[in-house]
This record gives sequence, C-alpha cells and structure tokens, in this order.
Amino acid sequence: NMDKWSGKVAVVTGASVGIGEAIVEKLVGHGMKVVGCARNEEKLKQIALKVNGKGPGEMFPFKCDVTNETCILEMFQYVKKTFGSMHVMVNNAGLAFEAPVTSGKTQEWKTMLDTNVLGLSICTREAVQLMRESAVDNGHIINIGSVAGHKVCYMSMYTGTKFAVRALTEGLRLELREAKSHIRSTSVSPGYVATEFAYRLYSGEPERADRLYNQMECLKAGDVADTVVYALSAPPHVDINDIIIRPVEQLV
Ligand SMILES: NC(=O)c1ccc[n+]([C@@H]2O[C@H](COP(=O)([O-])OP(=O)(O)OC[C@H]3O[C@@H](n4cnc5c(N)ncnc54)[C@H](OP(=O)(O)O)[C@@H]3O)[C@@H](O)[C@H]2O)c1
Repeated sequence: NMDKWSGKVAVVTGASVGIGEAIVEKLVGHGMKVVGCARNEEKLKQIALKVNGKGPGEMFPFKCDVTNETCILEMFQYVKKTFGSMHVMVNNAGLAFEAPVTSGKTQEWKTMLDTNVLGLSICTREAVQLMRESAVDNGHIINIGSVAGHKVCYMSMYTGTKFAVRALTEGLRLELREAKSHIRSTSVSPGYVATEFAYRLYSGEPERADRLYNQMECLKAGDVADTVVYALSAPPHVDINDIIIRPVEQLV
C-alpha cells in the first residue's frame, strides 16, 4: 500500500533518464514530493513539466553531481529548508566504464567509485541524519545495485562497486537496527535494463549497446521502478532487503 507515502518527500539520484526517471514518475504518481537530481538540469526540467500538475505529487528538479560532496550537501540543505524533512532516499545514480583492473584508467575507476559508492554513501548519511533529526522513524533507503553485485562479471571495477552497494545496504541495516531505528534498507539488483546505460558505457560504439539490448527482451526502466514501489509498499514491520530482478531470458 503506497497511500502512506502520499505527501511525503523522496530524493532520487540519477533522475534525468532511465531507471531514475521511471522511479520519479511512479513516486510522483503515488502523490510524493520528489526531489530528482542529476547533472543534466534541462532533462530534469522536462521531466518535471511532463509529470507535474496531474495530481498531488510533484517533482522538484535539482542539479547535483553526486561525485561532488558540496553539491550533495547543498541538495540536502535545500530539502531541509523546503520540506523540513524527508522520508525516502533512492540512490540510483550510477555508471560503468570498460576499465579492466589490469589495464583500466585510474580516473575511470575513481569516477565509478565516486558515483556508485561514495555518492551513494554521502546521500545515505545525509538522508538518515535528516530523517532522524526530524523524527522520521519510518523512512526508507533504497539502493539500486546490480546483478553484478551478486556475481563477478567481466567489468571488475564496476562489479566491485556493486558488491560494495550490497555490503553498504546490509551494513546500513545493521547500523539502523543498532540505533533502534525503524528506517528500512533495501537494495534492488537488476539484470539488463534497456536504458542509456550501455550507450554511455560503449560511448562512440552504439552498435555494441544495440547488440547487448537486442539479444533478449530486456527489462524496461519501469519494471525496476515497479520493484522499488513494491519494496516501499510493504507494511511497516516488513523490511525487504534484497531483490534481484532479471529479464526472463537472461542467463548470467
Ligand atoms: N541498465 C542496466 O542494465 C543496469 C543493470 C543493473 C544496474 N543498473 C544500475 O541502475 C542505475 C541506473 O542506471 P540506468 O540504467 O538508468 O542508466 P542511465 O540510463 O545511464 O542513467 C544513469 C543516471 O545516473 C545519472 N548520473 C550519472 N552520474 C551522475 C552523477 N555524477 N551525479 C548525478 N547523477 C549522475 C545520470 O544523469 P546525468 O548524466 O544527467 O547526471 C542518469 O540520470 C545505476 O546505478 C546502474 O548501475 C543498470
């Protein structure tokens, strides 16, 4: 049941396209006030134009690069000033480079770690602190991991970041239980989802991304967003911790 979230505040990172955009649409549809962040502010504004004004929910675009801690802190200041509190954090911003551990570029490793691991961790810390200082005990942190966080694939460093996401989701859960908080911690780990992800990964070689996404009927961004909604819909005593969702035809 999503009624409990109507009028409540969510922050979604990586909201300009793909899975993040789909999550924003669903949460706004369920009446939430959603701060959607990404680097491409124009895209965020277009999404706001598309989803706002249809119901009680609303999207608030916020330009934020999650590799920049100052940007993240400014975003949470904005959330605190505008709404006084928040209830749902969706850490979705993420990317991959082809950067093998034997030959990859250090800068590409750093960008993956800064985005997929540290950006997610800083957002988690700030979200939990804002929830706790505003006495929100039923908040929910959702991390978008990957099947690559459950089994090692060929992209070693990307896989490493997604194993870290899974560890951080469970570590967060343990910290929250220790603090006697009822905030919940979920990771959603998708297989192939047809988004911009592979086009960015293989930038300059779109035919490789086409091949990847055409080899089977991939998940759609909305399928992953539905899974996020499922986790959020659980009754307050149910903590859905880890969900793997693959296209039916995906083997690995
Ligand atoms: N597609 C798949 O097959 C797949 C499978 C498993 C897991 N995932 C995970 O799902 C998540 C979303 O991926 P997607 O498939 O939706 O990919 P996508 O279409 O490439 O979208 C990625 C999103 O992340 C944002 N982003 C990237 N770097 C950012 C930064 N430094 N600061 C803020 N936002 C940033 C992008 O926005 P801007 O460029 O505007 O900043 C964009 O909105 C990622 O964590 C990814 O690892 C994807």
